[in-house]
Amino acid sequence: NRYKIAAVNGDGIGHEIVPVGLQVLNTVADRFGFQLEVTHFPWGAGYYREHGDFMPADGLDTLRQFDAIYFGAVGLPDVDDTLPAMLYTFKVRTNFQQYVNYRPVKLLAGIEGPLRNKTGQDIDFVVIRENNEGEFVQNGKIVHGDSPYGVATDTSVFTRFGIERIAHYSFQLARRRRKHVTNVTKSNTLIHSLAYWDRVIGEVAAQYPDVTYRKMYVDAASANFVLRPEIFDVVLTTNMIGDILSDLGGAIMGSLGYGPSGNINPERTFPSMFEPIHGSAPDIAGKGIANPIGQIWSGALMLEHLGETEAAGAVLSAINAVTAQGLRTADMGGTATTQQVGEAICAELRNH
Ligand code: NAI
Ligand code: MG
Repeated sequence: NRYKIAAVNGDGIGHEIVPVGLQVLNTVADRFGFQLEVTHFPWGAGYYREHGDFMPADGLDTLRQFDAIYFGAVGLPDVDDTLPAMLYTFKVRTNFQQYVNYRPVKLLAGIEGPLRNKTGQDIDFVVIRENNEGEFVQNGKIVHGDSPYGVATDTSVFTRFGIERIAHYSFQLARRRRKHVTNVTKSNTLIHSLAYWDRVIGEVAAQYPDVTYRKMYVDAASANFVLRPEIFDVVLTTNMIGDILSDLGGAIMGSLGYGPSGNINPERTFPSMFEPIHGSAPDIAGKGIANPIGQIWSGALMLEHLGETEAAGAVLSAINAVTAQGLRTADMGGTATTQQVGEAICAELRNH
């Protein structure tokens, strides 16, 4: 098999972790006998500084021809941060109907995380963040912003179509896991949008009697993420709540640098995009010390999506073997470089 991959480093540590991720992907491809044909695109905030846009006008048409997109993160301190979401991530996610943002939260081998001692139980859940609508549709404006009467709005949009499809995805996923869905909501205050969200999810839940369903408000859910993370299996939630809770999920794993994600178009009409949950980390960029594991794990999710399930499993095993050995980057208090972690994972893949 041969897969066409579009690689977009983006900015900051993207330039360090995407190449390492690709090195791991090529190593596992060699071992399992498939090929990755990688094309690089220099898009992001750096590209914006030169060209006035995060990608060329025909960027989406270009990406469409690929089997998957392997992405780092976009954003630079001197480029207006309201732009990247709108001009790259948002465009790709919405135009390619990547309505599922799949974000596993799982402790890697040998990593205590801040919570393992407390619970003594395995933490293994997935945040399913609705990725195409909700709070992030950028439907709003600033009116008379410089005057004393300035008003700003961002109106969320939730559709039955959008809620049903993310709910079905979540319940079907739960069937392949521990059969438990928690809808994280805030319908007690967002009494229209999230009340409707709850209602439609409740209707879908009734079609999956074999899956346990419960509703939890986000304030309580954030406390439970810390106090009882072992109770979660599939966490189904909105775009903004999912964005916030998945960084908390990264923290539960010990570092934001561990968190992987897939922006998935389940129908496969369009390519899906795989990226770590974190941003471009300008504070540590250029030093070669970023934790590459979230990026590498995202590569495993990409392989799974492409149907290379065994190879995906091998990457995750290799990651766990390396974390079990105690190799740590600076975010985890260690001295290993990005490159060293990548090489250790490649060595595991070659030797086992
Ligand atoms: P961030 O996730 O880039 O960094 C937050 C903190 O976590 C920083 O201290 C950083 O050093 C650390 N960190 C993140 N990833 C790490 C890794 N792999 N290894 C070690 N430490 C790591 O979030 P921040 O600072 O809020 O945003 C920086 C830029 O990234 C902004 O321009 C933002 O808009 C952009 N961003 C882009 C995203 C995307 O392209 N999908 C997602 C989130 C933020
Ligand atoms: Mg985020």
